[in-house]
Amino acid sequence: MTTSSNPPNSVTPDQTSGMWGGRFSEATDAFVAEFTASVQFDQRFYKQDIAGSIAHATMLAKVSVLTEAERDDIIEGLSTIRSEIEAGTFEWRIDLEDVHMNIESRLTQRIGITGKKLHTGRSRNDQVATDIRLYLRDEIDDILKLLERLQKGLLGLAAKNVNTIMPGFTHLQTAQPVTFGHHLLAWFEMLVRDSERLQDCRKRVNRLPLGSAALAGTTYPIDRAYTAELLGFEAVCENSLDAVSDRDFAIEFNAAASLIMMHLSRMSEELILWTSAQFKFVNIPDRFCTGSSIMPQKKNPDVPELIRGKSGRVFGDLISLLTLMKGQPLAYNKDNQEDKEPLFDAIDTVRGSLMAFADMIPALVPNIEIMREAALRGFSTATDLADYLVKKGVAFRDAHEIVGKAVALGVAEEKDLSELTLEQLQQFSDLITADVFDKALTLEASVNARDHIGGTSPKQVEAAIARAHTRLEQLYA
Ligand code: ARG
Repeated sequence: MTTSSNPPNSVTPDQTSGMWGGRFSEATDAFVAEFTASVQFDQRFYKQDIAGSIAHATMLAKVSVLTEAERDDIIEGLSTIRSEIEAGTFEWRIDLEDVHMNIESRLTQRIGITGKKLHTGRSRNDQVATDIRLYLRDEIDDILKLLERLQKGLLGLAAKNVNTIMPGFTHLQTAQPVTFGHHLLAWFEMLVRDSERLQDCRKRVNRLPLGSAALAGTTYPIDRAYTAELLGFEAVCENSLDAVSDRDFAIEFNAAASLIMMHLSRMSEELILWTSAQFKFVNIPDRFCTGSSIMPQKKNPDVPELIRGKSGRVFGDLISLLTLMKGQPLAYNKDNQEDKEPLFDAIDTVRGSLMAFADMIPALVPNIEIMREAALRGFSTATDLADYLVKKGVAFRDAHEIVGKAVALGVAEEKDLSELTLEQLQQFSDLITADVFDKALTLEASVNARDHIGGTSPKQVEAAIARAHTRLEQLYA
């Protein structure tokens, strides 16, 4: 998943460039050429670079800066270069610094002088800003598809577990019984917000910097709205200085990616706990786990553990970009070349983690009996007994006190409240009658009673799942 090593094609380090030769009296130092280059990692968006150039050339022909024949030669040349890159025959040269100059140089090599006209009215500053936005837009769309698949998986598992009862926790101590379906819907809600955030971020990613040129705009009669339309951008960036400079859209993406990873990490933490011998709530199929080289009995939840670990690097990617940006004066500075690797790393990590989760969630096998047993321990229905007394006229604080005493007896006798006799319970309040067992102390009574929107009752969870399917359709319409 690293983005900085192993580029798909090789780079030749020791050739020299003619791209800005005019002003220079000696060739770039070989180490400096390598040190300042980005082609090792920015070749990843060659497709977007070519699409941007085709749109730029098409626009230049529309406003008669290029002839139609020149435009056609450029488009044809760029399409061939795309095939060369995809076939692995394109030679990436580090002395040509980045993806932009590698492609432009090859274009001129192929089609001659017309290739040198492509960069009219454009700078690498607006070009690279355009490429990253196009690239990120495509990646966001893919990530949204993964999120949707994971969310559907959660709804499927929740539907099978509407009636599965488990302990709900606060402070990781047994609190009240909940349904497993309800717990899975909590995860689902986290991902709904993650998806909303990404979709919102996409709107600000999807604006066109091209036309800003180096920083101030260009003297040619360009038609930016047309270029935007050709590339599917919703709007043009309004200010050229801002457009070539800011990377806030990438920071925003990394923030959204960090929140996704934070959520996946929390889910991972629960899965890791639940698969332990101490909980045994859930079984993760073997294909998602690994063993130990020394302890024959081990089956480790590697996938959730790794995702919990990977959340850290995405948070780091976010901080990298914030720090990268914060000291920069307008407009473009070379610092911005450092925007790519933290962005790519966040994209790769979030994609891989979502893919793993989307595959793993539908395969989880809950141990329904063990979950139920666990819910029966830990006095999970104590609040229900207090509510029962309140309904019989006891003030809540007094009811809390009464039930506290009953729990103390249960602790001493090593019995759940439902296992105490009616006589034992009546020591604490004569308002407790035989109906207490059905109305308050069973797990079913407890979950069924939480019968309102957002509550854990099976009826509500079923309704929530039905609504969730409609919400997903709207979210991904
Ligand atoms: N490789 C550069 C980057 O990634 C492209 C823009 C460079 N522009 C410049 N004037 N040096 O940001």
